[in-house]
Amino acid sequence: MSAATDRRAQAGVPGRVVVAGATGYLGKFVTREFKRRGHWVRALTRSVERLEQAGPFTAPGIARGEVDEVFVGQATRPETLRGLCAGGIDIVFSSIGISRQRDGLTFDQVDYQANRNLLDLCTRSGVRKFVYVSMLGADQIAKLAITRAHERVVSDLQTSGLEFSVVRPSGFFSDMGAVLAMAKRGRVLLVGDGTNRFNPIHGRDLAEVCVDAAEGEAREVEAGGPEVFTQREVAELAFAVLGKPAKLTVVPLWLARGLARGIGRINRQFGDLAEFIVTAGEVDAVGPARGTMTLRSYFEELT
Ligand SMILES: NC(=O)c1ccc[n+]([C@@H]2O[C@H](COP(=O)([O-])OP(=O)(O)OC[C@H]3O[C@@H](n4cnc5c(N)ncnc54)[C@H](OP(=O)(O)O)[C@@H]3O)[C@@H](O)[C@H]2O)c1
Repeated sequence: MSAATDRRAQAGVPGRVVVAGATGYLGKFVTREFKRRGHWVRALTRSVERLEQAGPFTAPGIARGEVDEVFVGQATRPETLRGLCAGGIDIVFSSIGISRQRDGLTFDQVDYQANRNLLDLCTRSGVRKFVYVSMLGADQIAKLAITRAHERVVSDLQTSGLEFSVVRPSGFFSDMGAVLAMAKRGRVLLVGDGTNRFNPIHGRDLAEVCVDAAEGEAREVEAGGPEVFTQREVAELAFAVLGKPAKLTVVPLWLARGLARGIGRINRQFGDLAEFIVTAGEVDAVGPARGTMTLRSYFEELT
């Protein structure tokens, strides 16, 4: 760590930050939140165009003038990251991971290796702190490929010698937006009986949690939104906001598991994703309530 970086950290003043995942749902809100609090921000992206465009589910576009620098690189390819942490970067935040991407890569290649590449760069470049977004209740779904990838990053952070903070959110509002989209099409599929409980959180609220984590000292930060729902209640709320009668189709767990296995035989990545959806539909994930945005107001905004 440079003397200047050390002085900034001790004084608690805004620092120089790299946001990796800046084109994603959460990353766009986090980029804005770091800037709002006066930090100097370099956004990592593999597409300037997508950074500037508004994303799905109300994620804002990030105009050139809203960040201090845009760095074009691909976190899965370390040779494209040279210089990313140059110029005295204090903090690297990463929400890089596969959600809706169809690049043909696995969770291991993206959720683990891309973040590992960033971590290696941080240790070589004298970065002080790494803030990483994993998931709430990882121990309940530890066998899944996505969880293993995320938790390998966490365990590498623990032995990296860097300061770090792991943010563990419940579901994102963006995924609830996907439920609303299904309701708009007329029918929502529920895996299992839909009685597992969770408290999803808006990207803007979670961004505040992430930047608090960057500025604070906690190594593990769990967070959810202000309201607890079951999967079934989310679907019913979506139909209520649309003013339509609720039409739900329940896919029994035994069938969903079989389908996920079948998909996995054809395409490993889709199979891993399907297994995640099935397993996540079975467990509760309720974190400490943070933020103020309600799901109803979010659904109203989307409609
Ligand atoms: N959704 C949830 O409920 C939930 C809950 C807990 C934790 N999380 C975790 O939170 C993180 C962020 O989620 P999100 O909803 O913000 O995801 P997102 O919108 O898909 O954003 C993910 C970011 O990762 C980047 N990325 C994906 N594949 C890449 C690749 N092959 N090479 C380089 N960059 C790549 C994306 O870049 P592009 O835009 O260029 O694709 C994007 O910037 C993920 O790790 C997710 O597992 C999500």
